[in-house]
Amino acid sequence: MDGNGRWATSRGLRRIQGHRRGKDSVKEIVETAREIGIEYLTLYAFSSENWERPRREVDALMGLLRRYLKTELNKMMRNEIRLRAIGNLRKLPREVLSELRSVEKATRHNDKMTVQLAVSYGAREEIALATRKIARQVRDGLLDAGDVDEEVIGDNLMTAGIPDPDLLIRTSGEMRLSNFLLWQLAYTEIYVTDILWPDFRRAEFLDALEHYKTRQRRYGKTGEQFAQQGA
Ligand code: FPP
Repeated sequence: MDGNGRWATSRGLRRIQGHRRGKDSVKEIVETAREIGIEYLTLYAFSSENWERPRREVDALMGLLRRYLKTELNKMMRNEIRLRAIGNLRKLPREVLSELRSVEKATRHNDKMTVQLAVSYGAREEIALATRKIARQVRDGLLDAGDVDEEVIGDNLMTAGIPDPDLLIRTSGEMRLSNFLLWQLAYTEIYVTDILWPDFRRAEFLDALEHYKTRQRRYGKTGEQFAQQGA
């Protein structure tokens, strides 16, 4: 969800005002996704690197996140949305973590859509953590080293149980993955738009989905094989 800062500074506003507008985009995109039947939506709200930002900005983002969780819970219940979080959550301020846990708990049986919030998240950290978990299982004799395959790795990532994304949308024209879901994005279609996140709303989201429909997902096969399968 990139471009909040630029959206604000280009208007002579403070960066946090861009994040506030970004929060409105979050609400609209979640609503739209639910309405059109998307089952899983992951939002990269705060990276493990974002802790290095000025203290004021970090505090403001944490405040926004907490208020979002507080005010959106009713809507999530009404719309049967489950919320889960991935990331190094121990680093979050205590009150944000407890809000997050309480929303996760309240929504855990909702089954129309899962919103996965990546906060204090970094994919390399996630992979390192999974590797440590697997190494311990091997050490304890619960798993044979020869049985460590892609499925075992996937099951030990924070996203265990959530399908790999079909589509990655990156706003504000950045052509990087920025340490986001590095394992899970192996075959994901990537859509980059110059639109800044605060301006990324329903119409822009629907455009991205329309564009996705035109992609041929070959998973390494040839175009002919793909056509024969009628996939
Ligand atoms: C990156 O844009 C955005 C962030 C680091 C924060 C994203 C937060 C929100 C969209 C609002 C709060 C989220 C929720 C889920 C309520 P940037 O600040 O790097 O923008 P820039 O590249 O233009 O400087």
